Amino acid sequence: MVIQNKSRQLNLDDMPATDIKDISLAKQGVKRIDWAWQEMPVLRQLAERFSKQRPLNGVRIGACLHVTTETANLVRTLTAGGARVTLCASNPLSTQDDVAAALVQAYGDPVFAVSGEDDQRYYRHINAVIDSRPQITLDDGADLVSELHKNRREMLAHVEGGTEETTTGVIRLRAMAAECALEYPIIAVNDAMTKHLFDNRYGTGQSTLDGVIRATNILLAGKTFTVAGYGWCGRGIAHRAQGHGAIVIVTEVDPLRALEAAMDGFRVMPLTEAAACSDFIVTATGDKLVIHRAHLEIMKDGCILANSGHFNVEIDIPALESLAVEKHHPRPSVDEYRLADGRRIRLLAEGRLVNLAAAEGHPATVMDMSFANQALSVAHLWTQRGNLDKRVHPVPQDIDSEVAQHKLAAMGIAIDTLTEEQTLYLASWREGT
Ligand SMILES: NC(=O)c1ccc[n+]([C@@H]2O[C@H](COP(=O)([O-])OP(=O)(O)OC[C@H]3O[C@@H](n4cnc5c(N)ncnc54)[C@H](O)[C@@H]3O)[C@@H](O)[C@H]2O)c1
Repeated sequence: MVIQNKSRQLNLDDMPATDIKDISLAKQGVKRIDWAWQEMPVLRQLAERFSKQRPLNGVRIGACLHVTTETANLVRTLTAGGARVTLCASNPLSTQDDVAAALVQAYGDPVFAVSGEDDQRYYRHINAVIDSRPQITLDDGADLVSELHKNRREMLAHVEGGTEETTTGVIRLRAMAAECALEYPIIAVNDAMTKHLFDNRYGTGQSTLDGVIRATNILLAGKTFTVAGYGWCGRGIAHRAQGHGAIVIVTEVDPLRALEAAMDGFRVMPLTEAAACSDFIVTATGDKLVIHRAHLEIMKDGCILANSGHFNVEIDIPALESLAVEKHHPRPSVDEYRLADGRRIRLLAEGRLVNLAAAEGHPATVMDMSFANQALSVAHLWTQRGNLDKRVHPVPQDIDSEVAQHKLAAMGIAIDTLTEEQTLYLASWREGT
């Protein structure tokens, strides 16, 4: 079958049963997956429960997620519940090839993901997942849902529901629902408190710094570090950069978030000012062309640019390419552009998610909660199939609370409980001064 995708023709006939880089990496992948498993107590507990109750017996799941050790453990949990999971990457640069090999060889899951794959192969892999006739989709950025709705509509009939992992995906899906274009219900896992409060803030915060440091090995202390966007991810990145001793600037378009950043102790200014004095600029907005030509023209020599937002559209890379007279590749994950006036601008990880492309993504400790939400939401979608509207739904409150309770218990933290008198007091208006 040949389909037209983003002005490309994809021939889907010659796709093998799996497509990964190197099966001999499986042993190393298994070790790393087990290492992450130790940090995922909530998911481990769920896997044990799922293996007894088999809530997903025979369910075909199509997943488009970053192929990392943590995702492998989500796949293990879903298969423990009886599901058959077919997996592809949600970003061309984020695949850990040893994990893909381990999933295929040690766990028997069909995987279509190769780190560094080009756009053509990326979409062929998404189509291979669609070919598995998924009844539930798991997405991170909504490329799978979008491909199903745009090019593979004949497969929509199989799908009962889906989940979405990230802010950008939720925004795209809400836009689809608003146009009545969404053909099945989706649960916005990103919006669970036990997801974005921890994963976006602490996970992206730590792993973005990890990616920037691994790629450059440049000391942050004393440097000027600008964060574009003070949402959940931006807050985490800004605080962690401050913790490294950097002078942190925040740029925003939302007055409330800008005010919060100012009161959190950061300098706030437009990017046109920040660009001239920054040693590092990291975007985390989910928006496009946040760093554009006018900023590139005034940046100081040696400025390092990175992105942690979902798509590689936050930095105007075509403008950077057109301004450059020379480009070279001094270190893995670093492209250095020399401009006509001699200034050098360094771009990390081709402007793709720096925490996944230049480091290992979020630590397992936070993915434990995000993926427990995923697994419980999938089970919820399956039991509720046919009963949910074709729109974006929140994660049910009891799932969010259950995940928080299990995480606290796993961390050995007990909390107080309301007395009966306090419960009544908090629900009444009669008592006052
Ligand atoms: N790197 C990762 O592993 C990872 C993890 C989670 C989320 N994400 C992605 O990161 C992005 C941000 O997610 P979030 O949860 O922080 O979203 P959010 O909505 O909480 O925050 C985004 C912020 O960016 C601001 N913004 C928008 N356009 C801007 C511009 N031109 N200049 C400055 N600020 C601007 C918004 O006002 C908002 O405050 C999304 O694309 C999301 O999918 C990445």
